[in-house]
Amino acid sequence: MLSQKTIDVIKSTVPALEVYGTEITTIFYKNLFSSHPELQNIFNHANQNQGRQQTALANTVLAAATHIDKLESIIPVVKQIAQKHRSLGVKPEHYPIVGGHLLRAIKEVLGDAATDEILSAWKNAYGVIAGVFIELEETLYKQAADQEGGWKGFKQFKVVEKVEESDVITSFYLVPANNSPVPIFEPGQYITIRHKIPGETNLINRQYSLSAASNKESFRISVKREAEETKPAGVFSNYLHDHINQGDIVEITAPAGEFVLNSASTPVVFISGGVGVTPLMSMINSIAEQQPNRQVEFVHAAKNGKLQAFKQELDHLNERLNNSRFSFIYDNPSEQDTMNTHFKKQGYIDVEWLEENTILKGADYYICGPVPFLQAVVKGLKELGIQDSEIHYEFFGPAINMEGK
Ligand code: HEM
Repeated sequence: MLSQKTIDVIKSTVPALEVYGTEITTIFYKNLFSSHPELQNIFNHANQNQGRQQTALANTVLAAATHIDKLESIIPVVKQIAQKHRSLGVKPEHYPIVGGHLLRAIKEVLGDAATDEILSAWKNAYGVIAGVFIELEETLYKQAADQEGGWKGFKQFKVVEKVEESDVITSFYLVPANNSPVPIFEPGQYITIRHKIPGETNLINRQYSLSAASNKESFRISVKREAEETKPAGVFSNYLHDHINQGDIVEITAPAGEFVLNSASTPVVFISGGVGVTPLMSMINSIAEQQPNRQVEFVHAAKNGKLQAFKQELDHLNERLNNSRFSFIYDNPSEQDTMNTHFKKQGYIDVEWLEENTILKGADYYICGPVPFLQAVVKGLKELGIQDSEIHYEFFGPAINMEGK
């Protein structure tokens, strides 16, 4: 437990951290990687380069500082991060390394303003926060390893099928290279893939949502080819598309994640943008198998039909579900796209459209897509009176708060 004095000191530093948070974490990462280059194998450099990771860590440290006297209120956020850490193989021995560099970065940026009292308060607070993460992650490692077919860390999987789902999205079906069983997972969870790409110094890790229902035989991920010019963001996805084929081996960690479908019988509204459809494909496939009478509203926005994945699969799902409606919204549809039976609108989803098409009494909303899409949809649903507890969302990349900071 932290003393009241420590809590007071931590809280008094929140304004400075608000101003310098990103600067502190930028310096932190630079120093961390120069003294521990091996850690570059687990961090996503695309996120680093875009400054997103700096923002995510800064936001969490800030949130922890603000709630230091009632840490339980940020447990949902901590859980989500712990899942990500578990999925990446973050270990207890990494925490003192990260903590030491964080403190040194605070000192470097704040200079004389970072008194011994402040640094010692932060050291204590970091220790408490790290302790919460370590304990939670230990439970998650154990859960992942203990279930049938489960494992700890990375395991080799073989690509048994590669299927083009659209001009830019390709699915990979993966089975354990040693033919062991595939663990069951919750619809909405993701895996981390790790691979050594020729020409890259470090191993590269990426998270991809599982896009099919849990089936004990294989995992399916569906990867969007990111534009070459977004390098390094596109390095991994282009490599998978161009060089990973049937018979190839990749290393993956066991499924993780908190963005999962509830198994209640409440109506469910799925709203996705672009490749954000992938975790929702796992969810809707699970509903088709286990709750075919559950009411489902499936809304998917894409640039056009050629870039949209899973059109045929969604048609089959429409037949398998007894109470479902599908709506496709295209930004720039072809004439053929506008003739699709599910085509509803050209342009973007706005509040009026949400109000007319998605508001179901007692429904749960699952939303996934790029940040601006998510912000617009979540804001719209809230304006329409949907409660926070009914809105579940995930986007790709590290957590950024919904105000987009
Ligand atoms: C991701 C916070 C300790 C490695 C994250 C994220 C946050 C965070 C907010 C983004 C989560 C998301 O994407 O949803 C923290 C805090 C820590 C801590 C507050 C200390 C109390 C560590 C340690 C390591 C680590 C000790 C291991 C060296 C990572 C990695 C990612 C991550 C590799 C994924 C980032 C990426 O590459 O995109 N962490 N973390 N973290 N964390 Fe931590």
